[in-house]
Amino acid sequence: MSLSNETGNGLQLGPMELKQLWESGGDQLAGLETWRQLPMMYQMALDELQNKIKLIQTEWKHRQGYNPIEHIKTRIKEPASILAKMQRKGLAMTPDNLVGGIHDIAGMRIVCAFVKDIYSLVGHLQTRDDLNILEIKDYIAEPKPNGYQSLHLIVSVPLILMEGPEWIKVEIQLRTLAMDFWASMEHILFYKYDKQVPAHVIKELTEAARAADELDKKMLGLRKEIIALSEGTAGSGK
Ligand code: GTP
Ligand code: MG
Repeated sequence: MSLSNETGNGLQLGPMELKQLWESGGDQLAGLETWRQLPMMYQMALDELQNKIKLIQTEWKHRQGYNPIEHIKTRIKEPASILAKMQRKGLAMTPDNLVGGIHDIAGMRIVCAFVKDIYSLVGHLQTRDDLNILEIKDYIAEPKPNGYQSLHLIVSVPLILMEGPEWIKVEIQLRTLAMDFWASMEHILFYKYDKQVPAHVIKELTEAARAADELDKKMLGLRKEIIALSEGTAGSGK
């Protein structure tokens, strides 16, 4: 397997050099300004987006007395994974190909209590002019064949850099706690498993995903009942 590629400046880099370049911020290759800035820009975009989501949380909590977001995780894709993905997609190792062709270098996972919270949050994000939604993949409405459920967005977030504004892509995965449990377990079970998954294992996995879905629906039903009960109590003055 050859991962050596052109950086765009006629320089050949293998995976280890590119990893070092990424991690060092490109100090040993000071001429390659674009490569140098990439990790910083993706981290800044994640910070910017995370801050927007935190402000939404604060406002929602204030307005509705309830925070729809359980937790948020962010990550920057490992250099080796970026390289492997560019290789899979047949992209030469140029900064332009990386920025244009790989949309999940910066990733954010937002875990909500209920499915309706996910759609409310996405509905709200669609109204904002301080980010662009470039793509929506709704694996909640249409789960993957193995049962995977989540709503995926590719957004771009504006950064005001010293050189001017720059829009950076971030992949956001929105899930419920139950969907997150299933996806995390599936990842643990199949991490580094590269053989054909037997049909009965896929069947049991999709059954487990259905069970997670049932749990979500049961919890939503309970929530509705508790709200009705508390409103009833408020109505009767107790
Ligand atoms: P890639 O980004 O190359 O994966 O292709 P894609 O853009 O078509 O992928 P997709 O939007 O379907 O999924 C992107 C990400 O969602 C993955 O990197 C995982 O984090 C997550 N994901 C997708 N499918 C599964 C799945 O079956 N199980 C788990 N655990 N995670 C998944
Ligand atoms: Mg993707």
